[in-house]
Amino acid sequence: MKISVIGAGNVGATCANVIAHANFAKEVVLLDIKEGIAEGKALDMWETSPINSYSTMTTGVTNDYTATAGSDITIITSGIPRRPGMSRDDLISTNAKIVKSVTDSVIAHSPDTIIIVVANPLDVMTYCAYLTSKSPRTKVMGMAGILDTARYRSFLAMELGVSPRDIQAVLMGGHGDTMVPLPRYTTVAGIPVTELVDADRLDAIVQRTKKGGGELVKLMGTSAWYAPGAAAAQMAETIAKDERRIFPCCTWLDGEYGLKDIFLGVPVVLGKNGIEKILELDLNDEEKAMLNTSADAVRGVMKVLDDMNLFS
Ligand code: NAI
Ligand code: 2OP
Repeated sequence: MKISVIGAGNVGATCANVIAHANFAKEVVLLDIKEGIAEGKALDMWETSPINSYSTMTTGVTNDYTATAGSDITIITSGIPRRPGMSRDDLISTNAKIVKSVTDSVIAHSPDTIIIVVANPLDVMTYCAYLTSKSPRTKVMGMAGILDTARYRSFLAMELGVSPRDIQAVLMGGHGDTMVPLPRYTTVAGIPVTELVDADRLDAIVQRTKKGGGELVKLMGTSAWYAPGAAAAQMAETIAKDERRIFPCCTWLDGEYGLKDIFLGVPVVLGKNGIEKILELDLNDEEKAMLNTSADAVRGVMKVLDDMNLFS
C-alpha cells in the first residue's frame, strides 16, 4: 500500500504522521513545492519509527511526482488555509488552480489512485479534482464529515462527561456554516442523545460545531490540523484495509437525497474501491430543508469555479 500526501504543511504533515504511526501502509510519500520542507518532515517522521515501533517508510520530495507513481491513495492538502476574517469559500481562486495542477500531475503518475481531497473550499475542491482527474465518482472524495462529526462528538463528550468513543453521530451537507448535524441520528452508547441533553444545550452544541473551524482560526490565526489530518488518515486507513466502515464523506451525488451533480457530505461505506455505497437516510422535512440549503450554498461556490473557466 502506497499513499501520497500532497502538501506538507500543517494538515498534510499531520496526516502523513498519523498514517505512518498506524503502520498499515508500506510507504507514505510527502510532496510539497517548498524546497526541502517535505524531505525534512518525512525524515523527521522516519526517525520516530524506532521510538514508535512502526515500519511505514516516509519519503519527502519537492514537486517530484515520479516519487508518487503507483500510489493506491492520494490525499490532496495543498492549498492556502483560512486566516481570521476569511471564509473557506474565500480560498477558491488560489486553491482551485493548485488543486487542478496537482491532480493533473497525480493522475499522470497514478491513473488508478483513489483521491481524498482536503483543501478548501472542500466540496468544490473535490469537484475540481473530480473534473480534472476524470476518474469514476467512487474514486474521488472529500474529507470534512469525519472532522465535523468529530468536533460534534467531542463537544457532546465534554457536555456529558463521558468518553467520546461512545458517541456516534451523523452529519451531512457541505463543509461550511450550513452543515447539518443530525441530533435525531446521534446516540450515546446506543441511547438517543435527546434523552440525555436538553434541547437548548443540544442546539448550542450544534451551533458550536457549525462554527468549529472558525473557532480554531480565531484562536490560532490559521486553520486546524490535528483533527483534520487524523480524519483524512482515517479515511485512508479504512480504504487501505477494506474495512467498509461508515463515515460522512463528501461524494458526488447522482439523485441520492433528491440531489444531482453536486459534491456533498452524506454517509457512505468506505472500502477498497473508495465509495462502496451511499447510504440514504429517511430525513424528515426539516432535515431535508437544511440539506437543500447546504446544497444551495455549495452550488453557489461551484458556480464560482465554473466561472473561472478552468475546464473549458
Ligand atoms: P499549510 O499552509 O500549512 O500547508 C499547505 C501546503 O501546501 C504548504 O506547505 C504549501 O507549500 C503547499 N502547496 C501549495 N501549493 C502547492 C502545490 N502546487 N503543490 C504542492 N504543494 C503545494 O495549510 P494547511 O493548514 O495544511 O491547510 C491545507 C488546506 O487544507 C487548506 O486549504 C485548508 O483550508 C484545508 N483544510 C481543510 C479541512 C477540511 O476539513 N477539509 C480542515 C483543515 C484545513
Ligand atoms: C476546518 O474546519 C478550516 O476547514 C477547516 O478546520
